Amino acid sequence: MKIALITGISGMDGYNLVSFLLKKEYKIIGIIRRTSLFNLTRLEKYREKIDLVYGDMTDTSSLNHILSNIKKIMKEDDQLEIYHLAAMSHVGISFEMPEYTSQVVAMGMLNLLEAVRNQNMIKYTRIYNASTSEMFGNQQSPQNEMTCFDPKSPYAVAKTFAHHMCQVYRDSYDMFICSGLLFNHSDLLRGENFILRKIAMGVAKYQKNKKILKLGNLNAKRDIGASRDYIEGMYLMLQQEKPEDFVLATGTQYTIREFVEMAFQVVNKTITWKGTGLNEVGYDQDGNMLVQVDKKYFRPNEVNNLLGDSTNAQEKLGWKPKTTTKELLKEMVEYELNNNHI
Ligand code: NAP
Ligand code: GDD
Repeated sequence: MKIALITGISGMDGYNLVSFLLKKEYKIIGIIRRTSLFNLTRLEKYREKIDLVYGDMTDTSSLNHILSNIKKIMKEDDQLEIYHLAAMSHVGISFEMPEYTSQVVAMGMLNLLEAVRNQNMIKYTRIYNASTSEMFGNQQSPQNEMTCFDPKSPYAVAKTFAHHMCQVYRDSYDMFICSGLLFNHSDLLRGENFILRKIAMGVAKYQKNKKILKLGNLNAKRDIGASRDYIEGMYLMLQQEKPEDFVLATGTQYTIREFVEMAFQVVNKTITWKGTGLNEVGYDQDGNMLVQVDKKYFRPNEVNNLLGDSTNAQEKLGWKPKTTTKELLKEMVEYELNNNHI
């Protein structure tokens, strides 16, 4: 039996991974946090097919307890794959909560590695660590596995700590750990304060209520793919003979301004930009104001230019992104237009 333990199962990648691994007949156990209202909207349709247990990355006793319970149900020859996705994953918010972000992201990874070691589960356990292209910061693009790290936010610093700690544990204790250096990816159920979802919802809000979309830095360039494609890459990394770190990316890049233009094009609106900096405004072909810049959404420090080179994953894992950024964004806008929550 293959068992998957997923941290961050209630998040965007978590639910896509559940959908993927259920098709492969994994037994799935997911760690959720206690919240005052259930926070399982994404997982609703899989609820009966998975086991959920309470825990937190900052609580080592819960991690040890969960692993020791998994050990009890495992039989000889069973394999455990841990997909460690839990994180305070919003770069902008990490500036407002640097200490908490570090506890969850940096120490959380270390807590998990120590728990696997303490429970003597190294031999039959494989771990996926969710590293990020944010660790590359403003290094020259395209970025690949050889690119140096240059973290620009508390989130990226914490992820860099986790990434290095995984390498140290892999080398020191012969642990099977792969870090995926994943570039930004999204889907219909992406958190609403990440850029593509915010833009997709912005188009629907304008169409339905004439609400103006307010954004921060329009000049940043991002390489954004579909979460479902990247999940497959995570899985493939853990099926390799030897653990290795891989970049997953589309290899295409757009500015935030271009994402906005593409998204409004879905409803036949062509944007023209006027003004600069905080005064930049986007109008449609009829002169209606659709987009404004708001300094509230700028970050104290920015990663300007992310573009990934996933040649290594393509050659060794046979992985390729199946969805283009344009296709993804169109899907996301159409979903919001047909969705009653706006
Ligand atoms: P997400 O939607 O923000 O989900 C984060 C998950 O982590 C949620 O399930 C959240 O639980 C959980 N979590 C947060 N703090 C926790 C804690 N202290 N203990 C236990 N669980 C905790 O993130 P995502 O987009 O799916 O990303 C998955 C992982 O990949 C993250 O580590 C992220 O940093 C990394 N990553 C993401 C991208 C991307 O573009 N999506 C790219 C590179 C790397 P609640 O639901 O209770 O909040
Ligand atoms: N969120 C947000 N909201 N971003 C904005 C806005 C806005 O109103 N306006 C401009 N941006 C810019 C940000 O400054 C950033 O340059 C870019 O849009 C993308 O922002 P996010 O969607 O918040 O994602 P991110 O690229 O910072 O981080 C995501 O990708 C990383 C991988 O590269 C997250 O998913 C991270 O967890 C992940 O590691």
